[in-house]
Amino acid sequence: MAILKTSVLGIEFENPFLLASAPPTAKIEGIDKAFSLGWGGAVLKTITPDNLEMIEASTRYASWRFGAKVCGFENIELLSHLTIQEWLDGIKYLKQKHPTKVQIASIMAPVVKEEWQKMVKTFNHSGADAFELNFSCPHGMPEKGIGMAIGTHAEISAEITKWVKEVAELPVFVKLSPNVTNIVEIAKAVEDAGADGLAAINTVQSLMGVDLDTFEPLPKVNGQSTFGGYSGMAVKPIGLRCVAQLRQHSKLPILGMGGISTWSDAAEYMTVGADVVQVCTEVMINGYGVIKGMTKGLEDYLERKGFNSPAELRDKAITNLTAHEKLNKSQQVYPSINDEKCVRCEKCVTICDESEYSALSLVNGKIEVNRDKCVGCSLCSHACPMSAIKMA
Ligand SMILES: Cc1cc2nc3c(=O)[nH]c(=O)nc-3n(C[C@H](O)[C@H](O)[C@H](O)COP(=O)(O)O)c2cc1C
Repeated sequence: MAILKTSVLGIEFENPFLLASAPPTAKIEGIDKAFSLGWGGAVLKTITPDNLEMIEASTRYASWRFGAKVCGFENIELLSHLTIQEWLDGIKYLKQKHPTKVQIASIMAPVVKEEWQKMVKTFNHSGADAFELNFSCPHGMPEKGIGMAIGTHAEISAEITKWVKEVAELPVFVKLSPNVTNIVEIAKAVEDAGADGLAAINTVQSLMGVDLDTFEPLPKVNGQSTFGGYSGMAVKPIGLRCVAQLRQHSKLPILGMGGISTWSDAAEYMTVGADVVQVCTEVMINGYGVIKGMTKGLEDYLERKGFNSPAELRDKAITNLTAHEKLNKSQQVYPSINDEKCVRCEKCVTICDESEYSALSLVNGKIEVNRDKCVGCSLCSHACPMSAIKMA
């Protein structure tokens, strides 16, 4: 799989798929197994100072399912429960056993210079290949002024980045939150403060739902709940948007993530700026083994397109993203109906009528398009239950 090799800031990746910081990287045995199955690297579950008290809630997950598929996932989980010494021993063990795999130490500390610098110095020579600063967990732990409480403030983010860079001997990636009005503003602040790279996105702050019998919000914790972090397939459009915005404004390497569940999701992230990608929820739902389909799929795609490495895919779509006012609006496309697939349910007729344009009708047993009325919006193609409409 030589074609999947890539390098970022001098760190060699045998493939561009990393486990994101989360339960799949919370214990050494798990990471060991994941490496053996083919993951290119792992961002360790966020490590905090040993004296930071952390009490987890039960339950701590909720999901939005469509049939058997988990489309969206919410968590209110906190950070790593391993001690610093356990991580130091674990990183060393993993490096000896899997020398070609990349380990990124995700760290978090209270907003105190000495605390952050102590964490960095502790892991500088641990065998980890880089740092990822967690400025972005939405629920862990704002009351202590950390996580997203840092990453929603450009000045604090920059200040901590400076502290870290003063003592870091490894590349420093800053993991950004999507829960801000302008992610680019935070990215610029940490870039100016010396960050070597960016990682995005952490989870999207959310409320999964409410039990209408008991009026308990989800996930239920003894009758109550709290706002959590949304991840999985449903957040991919938000992650892609954030990564694309970062790439439009920065040349720093980007570790892209959010809703990646297939090789093609990963490839899309690369086309808008990701150097390598991270995966969390897909692994939590379907296991470490998903890596096989991801690497095979990306390998085949790169070969098919004539690319020699993931690096050649990077940014390929970025120049095709522009401002609305710069889009070429001179061309209009129309619905083209596949008569063999169409079951004449007339759903397209109804929704076109009720959503403004009344451009479709059933004439002599066939859907007809009135081009004088059609504006080419494409709504009918999305609403058709038979996927019988294409825009051309
Ligand atoms: C249960 C759970 C725990 C997580 N814990 C962490 C963490 O400790 N540190 C961190 O930076 N991100 C954490 N994340 C966020 C993920 O690393 C990732 O940014 C996010 O889930 C989006 O990727 P995904 O859609 O592939 O899950 C966690 C996510 C989940 C679902």
